[in-house]
Amino acid sequence: MKCTEMLIEEHDVILDRLNAMENWIKTKSENDVSVVRNFISFVKEYVDEYHHNKEEDFYFRWIIEKNPSFEKGPIACMLGEHNQGRDLIKAIEQCLQNHHFQKIDSLVLEFSQLLRNHISKENSVLYKAADQLDEESKDGDDLMLKEFKSINEKLKNTPRKFGIKSKEASGNCCGSCS
Ligand SMILES: [Fe+2]
Ligand SMILES: [Fe+2]
Repeated sequence: MKCTEMLIEEHDVILDRLNAMENWIKTKSENDVSVVRNFISFVKEYVDEYHHNKEEDFYFRWIIEKNPSFEKGPIACMLGEHNQGRDLIKAIEQCLQNHHFQKIDSLVLEFSQLLRNHISKENSVLYKAADQLDEESKDGDDLMLKEFKSINEKLKNTPRKFGIKSKEASGNCCGSCS
């Protein structure tokens, strides 16, 4: 399913940023608040608005429609982890306000680990289950691709802001060529 491919491509972007942030924390010689602020912006604007909204508003709902038993199991777990991540970002912002730099490092690493595990579960279990459901119904892209592209178009400045290059995010492509 093309929608699944788009989400996996976004996961790759997110994992790259998590790696960069973890490396920065492990090797930095001073506390640079602007790096943490930039990371928070990336998480709020790209991870949450650009990526999680596709999952929460369309992809997860489509899965539940195809197989309602997913709602209380895997989907509830994924939604819970999205919220845990949001709470951690709030806690990091609070620490920034209070200049608790050591706490910031441990919270960022905790967030990174949470999101890394979350992405691994989605890639290896949930997205595969979704593709299997689509093997039967074959309507996933028909019902969701237009919505995904409209989010990308509406938020086309987000990948640009963070220097992310992809054919879907470039805004120059009609989106129907692959
Ligand atoms: Fe997710
Ligand atoms: Fe995801």
